[in-house]
Amino acid sequence: MPNSIILNVEHLCKIFKSGDQTLTVLKDVSFAIEEGSACAIVGPSGSGKTTLIAICAGLERPSDGSVVFNGFPMHLSSEEELSRIRNQFIGFVFQSFQLLPSLTALENVMVPAEIRGENHARSRASELLKQVGLEGRLHHYPVQLSGGEQQRVAIARAFINHPKILFADEPTGNLDTETAGDIVRLIFELNATTGTTLMLVTHDRELTEQASRIISLKGGTMLSDTQADAKLPAR
Ligand SMILES: Nc1ncnc2c1ncn2[C@@H]1O[C@H](COP(=O)(O)OP(=O)(O)OP(=O)(O)O)[C@@H](O)[C@H]1O
Ligand SMILES: [Mg+2]
Repeated sequence: MPNSIILNVEHLCKIFKSGDQTLTVLKDVSFAIEEGSACAIVGPSGSGKTTLIAICAGLERPSDGSVVFNGFPMHLSSEEELSRIRNQFIGFVFQSFQLLPSLTALENVMVPAEIRGENHARSRASELLKQVGLEGRLHHYPVQLSGGEQQRVAIARAFINHPKILFADEPTGNLDTETAGDIVRLIFELNATTGTTLMLVTHDRELTEQASRIISLKGGTMLSDTQADAKLPAR
């Protein structure tokens, strides 16, 4: 039986206006993502990858078309609704880790759970940091952590609210090959153990190879949409 669809994007368009200029960044993009799957978004710089996942994650509004996530019509939702949906169901990891500099690793991971009013934020954050191999760095501040360690904190933070979907924008972009490999393995391990759906913007070959599907953008249109028959084994 096929898996259920968690994200359905239809005829998505995004136009940016500045002065009397209009820039069409996404043109008639449609796809459906199966729950628990891992999809890589690839394409040249400026092709609309970040804009696409920002719209899918409810951080940006489409100019036209629909985005239905987990049954919610995101394109019709109020800002308040979007913010609730993001906090409840969506995790984010960015290329530039975006940790809060004045908080320790543990506190950074706890923040989204505290916003939700979870009782066990500290113990869950500490458990997640252990899972990403940072049990010895709980009380370090971001400046005291390496790039790969900061990215692992960002991943732990993205998973604290048990997201149904994780959007990651070049999560290995700022890391050396070996550390990037560790982060790739970690993301797919969390995908396998938690069932979290992945949508990853990436230039990383290893990440792309492990995804079950590759959506390729060029100039804001979908150039190809390739399903891998079977996931390649991890190297
Ligand atoms: N807020 C904005 N206002 C106007 N134009 C924008 C805005 N955000 C993005 N763009 C334009 O939209 C196009 C797509 O941008 P986007 O960031 O989605 O590309 P990308 O595929 O993620 O590129 P990269 O690989 O360099 O990160 C670019 O030409 C960019 O200049
Ligand atoms: Mg981008």
